[in-house]
Amino acid sequence: MTVGREEHLWIPESDLDGMSVDTLAVRAGQVRTGQLEHSDAIFPTSSFVYGSAAQAAARFGGEEPGNIYSRFTNPTVQGFEARIAAMEGGEKAVATASGMAAILSTCMALLQSGDHVICSRGVFGTTNVLFQKYMARFGVETTFVSLTDADGWEAAVRPETRMLFIETPSNPLCEIADMDALSALARVNDALFVVDNCFCTPVLQRPLEQGADLVIHSATKYLDGQGRCVGGVVVGPARYLDEIYGFLRSAGPTMSPFNAWVFQKGLETLPIRMRAHCNNALELANWLESQPSVEKVFYAGLESHPQHQLAKKQQDGFGGIVSFLVKGGREEAWRFIDATRMISITANLGDVKTTITHPATTTHGRLSPEDKDKAGITENLIRLSVGIEAIDDLKTDLTRGFQALKD
Ligand SMILES: Cc1ncc(COP(=O)(O)O)c(C=O)c1O
Repeated sequence: MTVGREEHLWIPESDLDGMSVDTLAVRAGQVRTGQLEHSDAIFPTSSFVYGSAAQAAARFGGEEPGNIYSRFTNPTVQGFEARIAAMEGGEKAVATASGMAAILSTCMALLQSGDHVICSRGVFGTTNVLFQKYMARFGVETTFVSLTDADGWEAAVRPETRMLFIETPSNPLCEIADMDALSALARVNDALFVVDNCFCTPVLQRPLEQGADLVIHSATKYLDGQGRCVGGVVVGPARYLDEIYGFLRSAGPTMSPFNAWVFQKGLETLPIRMRAHCNNALELANWLESQPSVEKVFYAGLESHPQHQLAKKQQDGFGGIVSFLVKGGREEAWRFIDATRMISITANLGDVKTTITHPATTTHGRLSPEDKDKAGITENLIRLSVGIEAIDDLKTDLTRGFQALKD
């Protein structure tokens, strides 16, 4: 008897063992229905039906596996989770309603009152607010340390430290953390090492292979890549992910099936998009460095970047975020931004469309002046999320900004 491809409607995960992230992005996590659709199916349903009352009872009682209700599990969401877990090299993933919901759910599931967190100073502004304002209300105290200050991390450890949380590269100054050193510090202190991998994505960096316990994403950014949906995901071993899933099931910040479908399709083009973002960003960073109105450029792909060698060691590319200081202050930064015509003035990043942001008054606007100061968020700082448009057209649009500074 011939065993044909029709024997299975899906590609068993084992058939993809050892395949590259480019292949996993396209193939992992698809479960075909009896219709044998080629693209991933979407299941926009809030609940699932049973053949009998006894089967319903068995599902609810956990004696029979299967879907119950989309706050718990949904096949489209599971497809996205399986694909990103395969790409990050993690055992499991849990998708959430936003990137912030991913961070919150991780904290709620794995921390308790009395615990202490060390967080890098240069994180996304809302992450800072979540730890500083909200987690503190529930008895979880956070110390903020510069991402690159190795001694500062060691000095901040207390007996009750349970989590080290970082973004690398950081938002928006593109500082790079030494993940080997921080994971070793977490291990000896019995703390979790959590990495927000939003800027690199698994195409450029896989923190679980470099000692992280958990990886977090705002799927809103590169995983979607076209600015359509808000979502998040946590990836890591089942022993932590089962706890996070338990929190989500009870508290409810789950991902919708429609968003999961968009993200699943977004992942298919992530590897080629990331390479295009990296190429454009490196070229723009070099070009910006040569502009007389630019005081400084922050991009780990530049040899002038203090952690250039570390970024080369840890990453397979330098990413699409380039930040720079214009000479002057807020007025000059705003004048520059307002003079561009094509590039979108918006706070989102990771889109195929290039975006331009003034962090001090938008993404990091809720930080106190002292915290902004410590995080290096100055009034003359501009962040570009470099898209995949033709490089010469991006330079043309940015030249309008430089022209406005001369006028
Ligand atoms: C690095 C990073 N992490 C987390 C988040 C939060 O994600 P979301 O907006 O999907 O909640 C953002 C949002 O900009 C971000 O840039």
